[in-house]
Amino acid sequence: MSEHSCTRREFFVGAAKVAAVVGVATILAPHAEAGEKKATSINVDLANPVNAPLAKVGGAIMVDNPKTPKDKIILYRKSNTVVTAVSSLCTHADGPLTLPDANGIMTCPWHKATFNLDGKVIKGPTSKPLKKYSATINGNSVIVKL
Ligand code: FES
Repeated sequence: MSEHSCTRREFFVGAAKVAAVVGVATILAPHAEAGEKKATSINVDLANPVNAPLAKVGGAIMVDNPKTPKDKIILYRKSNTVVTAVSSLCTHADGPLTLPDANGIMTCPWHKATFNLDGKVIKGPTSKPLKKYSATINGNSVIVKL
């Protein structure tokens, strides 16, 4: 027998492990995709300590976008009644934008494009604005339409 041979039992145990892994991946993927496509809004609970910065004017947070996992949404509390919401993906080459600085400017770390709170380009290399989302404050929640 060579070094690479195995018993019949070892072969079937190995094959069963491979089948189990492939089966789980196949089962999970369609469910995850269906859930992501169904989401039409995000409810950001301002009572949750993770979201506390958004409860104060001038605060900002980044939340996941269930429709496009690669993207996140930057939320900024502009006033007591207004929250802005824009994509965190730079429109030049999908660089990950920073949260707004004290002047309300978001910067791409890759090639230094800058955007204002409404997603408009301040400085290139891109000239395409960020994707905007509708966000409304409803009591102790911020609702973001996807
Ligand atoms: S990817 Fe953002 S400036 Fe190039």
